[in-house]
Amino acid sequence: NIPVCLCVIMAANSSTGSATEPPGLETQWREIDNLNQQQLRAGDSWYLLDKRWYDQWKEYVHTGDQNSSSYPGKIDNTELYEDLDSYHLKERLTENEDFVLVPAEAWHKLLSWYDMMDDQPPLERKVVDLPSTVKVEVYPVEIYLCLSSNLESTVSAHAIHQKIRQHFNVSETAESRLWMRNTDTSSERLRNLNMTVLDTCLSSGMVKYTPTIYTLVIYSDSYQGPPGVCGLTNLGNTCFMNSALQCLSNTPPLTEYFLKNSYLEELNFTNPLGMKGEIAEAYADVIKQMWSGRHYSVVPRVFKTKVGHFASQFLGYQQHDSQELLSFLLDGLHEDLNRVKKKEYIELRDADGRPDQEVAEEAWRNHLRRNDSVIVDTFHGLFKSTLVCPQCNKVSVTFDPFCYLSVPLPVSKERVMEVFYVSLDPTAKPTQYRLIVPKAGRVIDLCTALSQATGIHPSQMAVADVFNHHFYRIYQTDEFLSCILDRDDIFVYQLSSGCVDQDGEEVVMAIYMRERSHYRDYGSGGNSYGTSLFGHPLLISVPRAQCTREDLYQLLLKRLATDTNSQDATDGDQSAGAEPSGKEEEDEDEDEEEEEPASCAQANKRLPGRRRYTERRKKALFTMQAVNSNGTTERGMGETDAQPYIAIDWDPDMKKKYYIENEAEKYIKDQSMDVPHQQTTVQLQECLELFTTVETLEEENPWYCPTCKKHQLATKKLDLWSLPEVLIIHLKRFSYTKYSREKLDTIVEFPLR
Ligand SMILES: *[C@@H]1O[C@H](CO)[C@@H](O)[C@H](O)[C@H]1NC(C)=O
Ligand SMILES: *[C@@H]1O[C@H](CO)[C@@H](O)[C@H](O)[C@H]1NC(C)=O
Ligand SMILES: *[C@@H]1O[C@H](CO)[C@@H](O)[C@H](O)[C@H]1NC(C)=O
Ligand SMILES: *[C@@H]1O[C@H](CO)[C@@H](O)[C@H](O)[C@H]1NC(C)=O
Ligand SMILES: *[C@@H]1O[C@H](CO)[C@@H](O)[C@H](O)[C@H]1NC(C)=O
Ligand SMILES: [Zn+2]
Repeated sequence: NIPVCLCVIMAANSSTGSATEPPGLETQWREIDNLNQQQLRAGDSWYLLDKRWYDQWKEYVHTGDQNSSSYPGKIDNTELYEDLDSYHLKERLTENEDFVLVPAEAWHKLLSWYDMMDDQPPLERKVVDLPSTVKVEVYPVEIYLCLSSNLESTVSAHAIHQKIRQHFNVSETAESRLWMRNTDTSSERLRNLNMTVLDTCLSSGMVKYTPTIYTLVIYSDSYQGPPGVCGLTNLGNTCFMNSALQCLSNTPPLTEYFLKNSYLEELNFTNPLGMKGEIAEAYADVIKQMWSGRHYSVVPRVFKTKVGHFASQFLGYQQHDSQELLSFLLDGLHEDLNRVKKKEYIELRDADGRPDQEVAEEAWRNHLRRNDSVIVDTFHGLFKSTLVCPQCNKVSVTFDPFCYLSVPLPVSKERVMEVFYVSLDPTAKPTQYRLIVPKAGRVIDLCTALSQATGIHPSQMAVADVFNHHFYRIYQTDEFLSCILDRDDIFVYQLSSGCVDQDGEEVVMAIYMRERSHYRDYGSGGNSYGTSLFGHPLLISVPRAQCTREDLYQLLLKRLATDTNSQDATDGDQSAGAEPSGKEEEDEDEDEEEEEPASCAQANKRLPGRRRYTERRKKALFTMQAVNSNGTTERGMGETDAQPYIAIDWDPDMKKKYYIENEAEKYIKDQSMDVPHQQTTVQLQECLELFTTVETLEEENPWYCPTCKKHQLATKKLDLWSLPEVLIIHLKRFSYTKYSREKLDTIVEFPLR
């Protein structure tokens, strides 16, 4: 027979029926209240008590007498049970709202004084010791047990699946799936029905059926794959831990040591530098599971908890540095398994011109007198470090143990930058280019690179960082490219066609687009309408002679031609946009005049000279306003920006009508964007060479020269003197600059042998 699941709930016998005469009310209160002050101790039993019954009892003992109407009656936990057949605890009950917890002694007293309703089982719960807290485990894990009368043959997932489908009358054609509920909002499909309950880390309440149904299959794990080829479940951002575990798991000498149980003889539970043997034991458990050949994957939850227990930085489920974990783990394993019982102090002897070989052997012997473990056997090697005093040329050689090499990556001297190029041609969309520039270059190098792609001379370009519809920064050509981050939106503007007026003087203006809100802030005095920036800002160069409001309006109208459907407005009446000079735009009446031109073109053609002034004002698509670099009219104190900033202000209705948002936001990609980002690769050997190059010590970290008797900026060279059986190499993928922490995604090629 195929087993059918049955749920077993362990309930302690209720000890009802032996009611004793209760003491006086005052005494009852004092006794119970005293007991309730008790501290939580792991292993103790506490009992759930319905909060309402408890409150009733409290009122009774405080206010009542033996015959009072507030007498609580028998202890009644009915409200806490899901149903009275299984006496299963309801989900999501809250302490001090639904129930109170009382220690065993208090419970037994109350029970003997008041007895309990209808054979209800007491809700006894144990105090558990968790890494960060001690608490009563109100919802213990419930285990569903299956009875199988068919243990000889392997019960296949398929057979159980079929049986369950039969049980639920699932039609032949219906599909059934199993999901695990991780949290209230996330579920995970249980695809591998070969996994055990432990493997999947199932706990109560996690199984959820899809609308189409329905299966929970549990049976003995029989996977027989290659031992060690075993996944580690991601417990939530724990890839940093899993990758370090996989590396170590595939280190044969270490894994053999654990699988052969050699660690049991060397575990030290009392080494103050160690972790009570717990890290080594938890690690051993993971390795044994991974190499059993019985699991597709293993859930390293206990290990994770232990790590968090000893290194609180790894608590929780954030991302961490894998190397940091590996380093912690190697250290923890080393001390948990250190064979040295008594760590003596060892006086370090100077090399004093003795041969390297001799000094190195001495250093290694000294190391082993304090550190001797499977980790040392497997991973520790010896550096030779040579310091040379720049003044007296004193050479100092020392030999130091290491557990891994942290090697730098050769940093590429070039950099790929993506920029948007905005041409003078109003019909051309901004174009995105991918350019290769010298990493240490300046803005002019960026312009030169773009010049090769566009044919526009670098002197006709202006480079700016656009953020939130305004110019976060407008760069000078001699500024360093290092102040531009990869995530910045860099726009390069073509400034003029080259044919400047005879006098040649030009003003570069920053143009912002703003939308007026109908809201009027009369209180501020200055502005009578609120504005918000939208669209892309522009940089344009204007001959100084053409800097009148009228000229500027026409110029901008042309520039915005494709973003607006007002092409007609630029024809016809040349003075269409002119505002009465000397008057600010924020005319109080403007919004009240609801009459609007059907379209600019129509309005233009209808213009009779007499009505010209009023009509003209209405025809302006936008007005212009001098602003500061943030696009607001409040000028900063002492703002000396030589750069004029002009805002183009649109009424919302006009903007809706004439400004085509989609059109204005569009850009095209140059073909340089299609060229796959050329990955530079380096050889591991290059990293090692960089690691062993001569460097000069930094000011903050000088060397005390025993000959000169003062601190010197000595030169230092590291060499690998002796290598361990397994060499751990950590690639330093983060490069720190003044502005950022950059992750180097350079591919490092390494020999497999
Ligand atoms: C309580 O009730 C009992 C009997 O019903 C009575 O003998 C006793 O006097 C009452 N006690 C008080 C304090 O009212
Ligand atoms: C399945 O079908 C049988 C007989 O048709 C019926 O007695 C039983 O209640 C059904 N079970 C379910 C879960 O619908
Ligand atoms: C489950 O285990 C059986 C027997 O070992 C095997 O034949 C089958 O391919 C496994 N299924 C999956 C999904 O791995
Ligand atoms: C554990 O380490 C401590 C300190 O190094 C030492 O005193 C003690 O003897 C060691 N215990 C065992 C069982 O090796
Ligand atoms: C060797 O042991 C000493 C003292 O116990 C400790 O300070 C040092 O970090 C250990 N060295 C290594 C490489 O583990
Ligand atoms: Zn010196």
